[in-house]
Amino acid sequence: MKRFSIHAEQKGECSEIICGTNALSALSELPARDTLVFTDENVFRLYRDALARYFPQCPVHAMPAGEQNKTQETLFALLGAMADAGMRRNGRIVCLGGGVVGDVGGLASALYMRGIECVQIPTTLLAQVDSSVGGKTAIDFYGVKNLVGAFKQPERVIADPVFFKTLPAREIRCGLGEIVKHGALCGELFDKLRENKNRLTDLTFLAEIVSENIAFKARVVEKDAREAGLRKCLNLGHTTGHALELFDGTLSHGEYVLVGILYEAELARRYTECDEAYLAQLKEIALCALGGMPDLPPAEDAARFALLDKKNTQAGTVTVTAPTARGEYALLEIPFGEYAAALAQIREELC
Ligand code: NAD
Ligand code: GLY
Repeated sequence: MKRFSIHAEQKGECSEIICGTNALSALSELPARDTLVFTDENVFRLYRDALARYFPQCPVHAMPAGEQNKTQETLFALLGAMADAGMRRNGRIVCLGGGVVGDVGGLASALYMRGIECVQIPTTLLAQVDSSVGGKTAIDFYGVKNLVGAFKQPERVIADPVFFKTLPAREIRCGLGEIVKHGALCGELFDKLRENKNRLTDLTFLAEIVSENIAFKARVVEKDAREAGLRKCLNLGHTTGHALELFDGTLSHGEYVLVGILYEAELARRYTECDEAYLAQLKEIALCALGGMPDLPPAEDAARFALLDKKNTQAGTVTVTAPTARGEYALLEIPFGEYAAALAQIREELC
């Protein structure tokens, strides 16, 4: 079990991170407070007994599972449950679940009485290595993902790999998208993934590398909690991955991120003086994580969805964080026509 803190520069917020085998034992150290547990119906079904053991007497509110429920209705139902439970400003919400529970519960913790304590207990691989850390909270609104949200660091994140045992294979792959993204940005993590490329889905290996992923993300968040600059690097693989996801929607988010990394490594070859041998290794890791090349949708048709990316900085151009060498990346501003033509060519090469 490892412990460290994230001190986000802005607002002086601090999160304590406890991760690794048996991290859940740290729950016994939480100061006594009125606590409401927020989860989703799947996680509640799987972990009802553990919940009763760790949070006896605490009210539990379970949302219907899934991204389609990351809505204002779910948020306000949760805020209503908090009010019904008579929670006060010194109360605490515990978010036990994947990234959807964490994002909605985190936002409720920012809003209720203008901010109460939040403890994140992420139960998916994606939530452990990415979404529970860093203080981004949100709901989807008006058909736009994460349109309404707030930055609020959770007071604690308790990430225990015990939850991976019940995760479907698809959810493991989903988390691998973010892990390979971190590997493309962090040299030490890249080496570890390269050395273990044939056991990327092995639960023992994943339990080992969660803490390094969190530590890497923590370093980025400490320097740029509100995504003014550096934190944009965490968009690697996502511009193209999101565009394909919006157009096609048959793979998981993480699988699209992995495919996005393949495309954006090729963009780096076209637009930067990159390390070709490194990019070949990165692509091999992404392919291992994917378990082979999936059917790719027509990229020139999907490209237009990249124009909707909120990280674009100029009209008519697409902003891409492209991997260039071990632990290095470049921010590219590519005119839309060139981007779409390049994606079409790259698709031919990848298939
Ligand atoms: P999710 O929360 O929908 O969970 C995926 C599925 O796994 C759900 O059906 C859930 O009920 C189930 N599940 C959760 N834990 C389980 C377990 N231990 N065993 C079996 N099933 C389990 O999805 P996710 O992939 O965890 O998160 C995706 C969300 O995270 C998206 O909404 C995305 O926008 C958000 N996100 C946020 C950030 C951030 O920085 N805040 C970063 C990345 C992603
Ligand atoms: N998942 C990207 C970020 O937290 O900034």
